[in-house]
Amino acid sequence: ASPQAAGGVLAGRRVVITAGPTREPIDPVRYITNHSSGKMGYAVAMAAALAGAEVVLVSGPVSLPAPRGVQVRGVTTAQEMLNTASAAVDEGCDIFIASAAVADYRPEQFVDQKIKKASDTMSLSLVRNPDTLATIAARDKPPFTVGFAAETTDVARYAADKMKRKKLNMIVANDVSIPGLGFSSDRNAVTVFWPGGSESIGPDSKQTIANRLMALIAEHISRTAT
Ligand code: CTP
Ligand code: CA
Repeated sequence: ASPQAAGGVLAGRRVVITAGPTREPIDPVRYITNHSSGKMGYAVAMAAALAGAEVVLVSGPVSLPAPRGVQVRGVTTAQEMLNTASAAVDEGCDIFIASAAVADYRPEQFVDQKIKKASDTMSLSLVRNPDTLATIAARDKPPFTVGFAAETTDVARYAADKMKRKKLNMIVANDVSIPGLGFSSDRNAVTVFWPGGSESIGPDSKQTIANRLMALIAEHISRTAT
């Protein structure tokens, strides 16, 4: 049965989701980013809203419309993603889902004038960005936390390891090396892991996968109390 907004399986729950890429500025005209389209995260936000949840979507720069009934808060950098997601969680959050493809590093310094070309080689010094998901999962009373893991090899092993290391309740692994799936595609195939179990979903549309993922989360959160 498809959950209806009023009496859905997540009615009364507050869900915070991160989506899209981040953008790390080098100078006024250049930045570092990645291939994330935000489609998976937006589909997850739509699924959560359809299940009756109150949804805040913390989104990096993407070209997607706000899903119906979802409050979108736009961010640019990884640092802004951490600040905005933390503030949203502070407002009350039962479920935190990190689907954003956050840049792991940012340029050590922002150069406020356009960098002119000079020598034949140039290097950029990068520093680590904060980890939004790990920061929220490490709170005293964390929400039910769900991570994503995009991998190209040893998908199951790396995903299980990330779930443990970041203290997550669930992780959604996708193999980004499969042609035609993931990134800008409307389709995906994932395996969802939780301590003691897993379920593979797809290949299917990102919306169908998101709907099934939200159903799994709803089942697990009712088991883990709150
Ligand atoms: N994540 C995050 N903030 C970061 C990096 C990652 O919130 N600065 C979240 C992602 O949204 C995802 C999960 O952590 O839900 C895993 O991201 P991933 O890039 O696969 O893991 P990393 O820990 O960054 O490890 P690596 O890139 O080295 O595989
Ligand atoms: Ca990463």
